[in-house]
Amino acid sequence: MAAKNVKVNLPEGTKIPVHIGMIMDGNGRWAKKRGLPRKLGHREGAQTFRTITRHAKNIGVKYFTVYAFSTENWKRPADEVEAIMDLFEKYLDEVRDFIEENIRICFIGDRSMLRPVLQQKMKSVEEDSRDFKAMTLLIAINYGGRDEIVHSARMLAEKVKAGELEPSEIDEKLMNDNLYTAEMDGDIAPDVDLIIRPSGEQRLSNFLIWQAAYAEYYFTNILWPDFKPKDLEEAIIAYSDRHRRFGSL
Ligand code: IPE
Ligand code: IPE
Ligand code: MG
Repeated sequence: MAAKNVKVNLPEGTKIPVHIGMIMDGNGRWAKKRGLPRKLGHREGAQTFRTITRHAKNIGVKYFTVYAFSTENWKRPADEVEAIMDLFEKYLDEVRDFIEENIRICFIGDRSMLRPVLQQKMKSVEEDSRDFKAMTLLIAINYGGRDEIVHSARMLAEKVKAGELEPSEIDEKLMNDNLYTAEMDGDIAPDVDLIIRPSGEQRLSNFLIWQAAYAEYYFTNILWPDFKPKDLEEAIIAYSDRHRRFGSL
């Protein structure tokens, strides 16, 4: 089923966040409420992902990062993890629809633990969309913010070991420029402006912990499969009304 384009309906003058992070949470509870298996919740959530990604692009968001699978989600029962990985495989074919929309697709996280066929598909989607400019969609799979910071530290340690870098030269910019969000062929995602979490939980769960140092947060009780384009607009309107000081006055 193709995702539909929905008309953007935002008041004139709304400030649009450059980078939005979305924690796609609540699939399991959505299914439970209906007496369905959890994997049907994930399937429904994947539909929402397509609709909301399109809408973010139509609104004019430049970077949209979605949390699809965390480094901690391996703790779930094997059959659920497998169902999620099957869905990724299927959706990686469908995500190609976004290429028609001029959306660049990148993946963040440690891919080495994913099925080889999945890794292959991820690489090919990235290559085929690398020149698209309307929006960059970052899909976080086997992603953890702490793992990402460790990864960056390791990259820098390698450079020190090779004699290319002095420890005293390591600063916030270098740490930032070696995160997964900087591994996009020369492009580096800016800090995240707005993090949205549906499902009623009010926590980051290891999402973009470095990049979110000055993010605004928006929480809603809606479960991800029920999240609609108008809910994204409500979050952006709330963001637009906030006064970001970044430590100054
Ligand atoms: C988010 O939905 C999807 C993943 C973590 C893969 P959940 O599966 O966490 O849904 P709830 O939180 O159990 O409702
Ligand atoms: C965060 O949701 C991860 C994703 C949405 C992919 P979780 O459902 O895993 O987070 P916790 O366990 O409630 O913190
Ligand atoms: Mg959850």
